[in-house]
Amino acid sequence: MRVSELMGSTEFSIGITALDQEQQRLFSLFNTLARLSESQEPADRFVEAFERFVDAVDEHFAHEEHVLRNIGFPDYAAHKAAHEHFLADARDFQDGLRRGSLTSQDFSTIARYVRYWLLHHVQHFGRKVDHFINAGWPASRQHANAR
Ligand SMILES: [Fe+2]
Repeated sequence: MRVSELMGSTEFSIGITALDQEQQRLFSLFNTLARLSESQEPADRFVEAFERFVDAVDEHFAHEEHVLRNIGFPDYAAHKAAHEHFLADARDFQDGLRRGSLTSQDFSTIARYVRYWLLHHVQHFGRKVDHFINAGWPASRQHANAR
């Protein structure tokens, strides 16, 4: 079964242009991964695409965490913990791909995991950030406390 690509959508926008653009770039790098995971291209191409994806994720998370700290986002710790969890998994995949313990047999499983995580993250945390920035503090505090 093919790994579906992720479509850019204002649905996932958090209302900070630079971060939204980075998120679109992550989706686009992911789509390359998804395509390569089931293509007849040499395995190196997937490994290289995964390296580019992890670098972009790392950069985006650092930037987003900086912004969240600056705006006093109330759910910062949970958001950062989610980033760290995903990056640890992504680095495990990266190590496996570099060492060759993960092979083309595993590419679509990796792509599927990445897709699931990205979608869940932007839907769950992205919505909270959007709510905090665009709906004002009292509503977002109720929202954060209601978890
Ligand atoms: Fe995030």
